[in-house]
Amino acid sequence: MRLNGKVAIVTGAASGMGRAMAELFAREGAKVVVADMNVELVGLVVEEIKRNGGEATGVVVNVADNSSVEAMVAAAVEQYGCLNILVNNAGIMDNFVPAGEVTDELWNKVLGVNLSGPMMTCRAALAIMKEQEDGGVIINNASVGGLFGARGGASYVVSKHGLIGLTKNIAATYGGNGKIRANAIAPGAINTNIGSTITEPNPLGLAAIGAVGQAPSGEAAEVAAAALFLASDEASFVNGTTLTVDGGWTSR
Ligand SMILES: NC(=O)c1ccc[n+]([C@@H]2O[C@H](COP(=O)([O-])OP(=O)(O)OC[C@H]3O[C@@H](n4cnc5c(N)ncnc54)[C@H](O)[C@@H]3O)[C@@H](O)[C@H]2O)c1
Repeated sequence: MRLNGKVAIVTGAASGMGRAMAELFAREGAKVVVADMNVELVGLVVEEIKRNGGEATGVVVNVADNSSVEAMVAAAVEQYGCLNILVNNAGIMDNFVPAGEVTDELWNKVLGVNLSGPMMTCRAALAIMKEQEDGGVIINNASVGGLFGARGGASYVVSKHGLIGLTKNIAATYGGNGKIRANAIAPGAINTNIGSTITEPNPLGLAAIGAVGQAPSGEAAEVAAAALFLASDEASFVNGTTLTVDGGWTSR
């Protein structure tokens, strides 16, 4: 039990990597707040965790909405009394639309969910964590698109670069005494449901990614294992880093 008694919020926990993290954290003894905008699937994931002997509660949240985010953090603290771990995992893609073609609507939507959302959840969580004797842990699920240009469209790549910047800033600002740690994960191509949101891939964006070469594909559980390490005390001296989990895609 590597997270025994810890209280964890996982956003985007109804599907893919968030679901895998929520289930793994619960197996490791955490009380998990399963937070997602998908009402139906939130209930299913909570049921599944409970059926396997874990503890979880569901919260329906839109991470792009500050009042919704504040209500999610308040619900976690009300239900379980504290907040030890926040995983910002909810995210959306952008059909690989490049800068010359991006609409204001797409830009604002992607930045709202992928970057402003995590900023708002971090802001609300830090208000709690900095008052706690044992601080807290923040994990931001970024992407290899947060490290390289040709892994998404302009909005996605910018949002994930920004998320890594947010992670470093929190580590640098709040990490001085090791009480609050913030790290990012940069997954490569992972088999989840996010592919279903790619409806009209932009040919120019696709060509840029194609030029990088075929990505090896990984499973959500492999990213959840990395998140578990970062969430656990085993990572007590790991702060402000970005852990790439991509099967070697970016090493080529
Ligand atoms: N799958 C990949 O190849 C890949 C690679 C790198 C990074 N990522 C990142 O990993 C994270 C998880 O993605 P996934 O692949 O597991 O996708 P997924 O589509 O399977 O799951 C994403 C979840 O986020 C939820 N969500 C979306 N917008 C939301 C909002 N505004 N508020 C609350 N919940 C919201 C969805 O309902 C969904 O349950 C994302 O941030 C994504 O950018 C994915």
